[in-house]
Amino acid sequence: MVQVVANISSNPQHEIIESLTRSLAETSIVTMKAQNFHWNITGMTFGPLHALFQEIYEDHFEAQDKLAERIKALDAHAEGSYSEYLKRSRIEESEGHLSDKEMIGAMRTDQEQLSHSLRVLATIADKHGDMVTNDLAIQRADHHDKLAWILRAHLKG
Ligand SMILES: [Fe+2]
Repeated sequence: MVQVVANISSNPQHEIIESLTRSLAETSIVTMKAQNFHWNITGMTFGPLHALFQEIYEDHFEAQDKLAERIKALDAHAEGSYSEYLKRSRIEESEGHLSDKEMIGAMRTDQEQLSHSLRVLATIADKHGDMVTNDLAIQRADHHDKLAWILRAHLKG
């Protein structure tokens, strides 16, 4: 008789929670980064960029709650510390002083990474038949794609 050893990474619930937690971590780091940029933006386009970064951090703050509460609905622990988020995120914090163009470029890259992470989550959720997580991930990826486009447009022309 073959002894089957439980492999935690093959546990569907574990795989979904890990992916949800990564998206929560990355969304939380970008929330703080957008607020940082909202505070520290300078230059001739201060007004609209100050407002755009606020729109991003307000949206992401709500998204953090949706992602964390989906983790709770799946009966798992929702991580709630930045030290844990930094370990799990592929997106890094912003340090030092950035120009307006550097801020837009950094935020565009982050939105593209967030979209990627949420597409991975959507695929994992779909593979395991979790249509609710799949729907949340697709909605979030769609919004990050829109923000990435808006930011890319600032850098053209
Ligand atoms: Fe403000």
